[in-house]
Amino acid sequence: MQTQLSRRIAALQPSATLAMAAKAKELKASGRKVISLSLGEPDFNTPAHICDAAAKAMAQGKTRYTVASGVPELKEAICKFYKNRHGLEYKPANITVSNGAKHCLHNVFTVLIDEGEEVIIPAPYWVSYAEIVKLAGGVPVIVETTEASDFKLTPEQLRAACTPKTKCLLLCSPSNPTGSMYSGEELGSLADVVIEKDLWVLADEIYENLVYGDNKFVSFPTVRPGLMDRTIIVNGVSKTYAMTGWRIGWSFAPADIAKKMGSLQSQETSCPCSISQYAAIAALEGSQDCVKEMCAEFSKRRDYVLQRINAIDGLSCPNMRGAFYAFVNISRYLGREYGGKMIETDMDWCLELLQKKGVATVMGSAFGAPGYARLSFANSMEELKQAFDLIEEFLNDR
Ligand SMILES: Cc1ncc(COP(=O)(O)O)c(C=O)c1O
Repeated sequence: MQTQLSRRIAALQPSATLAMAAKAKELKASGRKVISLSLGEPDFNTPAHICDAAAKAMAQGKTRYTVASGVPELKEAICKFYKNRHGLEYKPANITVSNGAKHCLHNVFTVLIDEGEEVIIPAPYWVSYAEIVKLAGGVPVIVETTEASDFKLTPEQLRAACTPKTKCLLLCSPSNPTGSMYSGEELGSLADVVIEKDLWVLADEIYENLVYGDNKFVSFPTVRPGLMDRTIIVNGVSKTYAMTGWRIGWSFAPADIAKKMGSLQSQETSCPCSISQYAAIAALEGSQDCVKEMCAEFSKRRDYVLQRINAIDGLSCPNMRGAFYAFVNISRYLGREYGGKMIETDMDWCLELLQKKGVATVMGSAFGAPGYARLSFANSMEELKQAFDLIEEFLNDR
């Protein structure tokens, strides 16, 4: 019988980052050494005190369904954390705890967007945004930003992209894939347009704790009064505490929206994993030294990666202010031969680099920016050194 897929699912694109990781695994399975700079997860183990809290929760029988939108103790811990960190007065009723930040994004757009409503997404964007918006029936409106503007959306671009159907602006700061980050002033100028055009904002702040040098993270709702009423923040433990597999993310939203997301979740997944929720409480309430240590290590790697990129003639990359990715302009290395083989696109370049040298990266076109490649530096210094030696060899292989 011929499979009749729904139109929404037939149009769904698989995650390019996971697809590249799968290709790298395939090559590894065939016996080749592969250095993966393609995945977006910390290479550290989850800190021991967090794992201990999970074990304790299991021993205490906290292994059953919880409230659909998360246990009250975790919501309290999240509120306290935000109040201390950003001065934002959220209440447990504003919070929905979900199975990772990605699940939060699905919830937000399902609850917020009607068929045909537009969501403005600045490019380069994280691979999943447009697909999640489409799954919810929305229309992603991609606005290209440039390396010259540090890949940041300007207020003029935002105003020009608005139509009567625009419902929401999606901002990711610090950014996956570019590592750029908006200052408070820049967010303020965008917020003025958001208020003028009566938009919602989805602020993906999942990388807020991974910020380097003198750069200061600013949470979007803090830049103008009243923004908490039109902003949904998405965040979680995955990146900050090296907890990608535990699947805990959360959103802050006005209480009526949060309530609907809880109902949606009660019909979708029942609740986030009970054990992981208790681990997340330990992460937020415990010592933050582990975060400082991981961030210091990422910072060293970021300096190293930036120095290696800048030392290669023809490559460029904006200063990474946060997250753990370098977004490298490889356009001067396209349209030429590598060992007798013509490489035209960023996709061909990434595949050839993987095939020839065993270094996995992700093509910029997956993030809406052809001519670039994303290199994750969530990898040991030793592997980063080897990877850059191999990249240099690859580029010199004419
Ligand atoms: C910008 C951004 N938002 C959200 C997520 C999803 O995080 P989680 O693993 O908590 O679902 C990621 C993960 O790569 C990300 O890079």
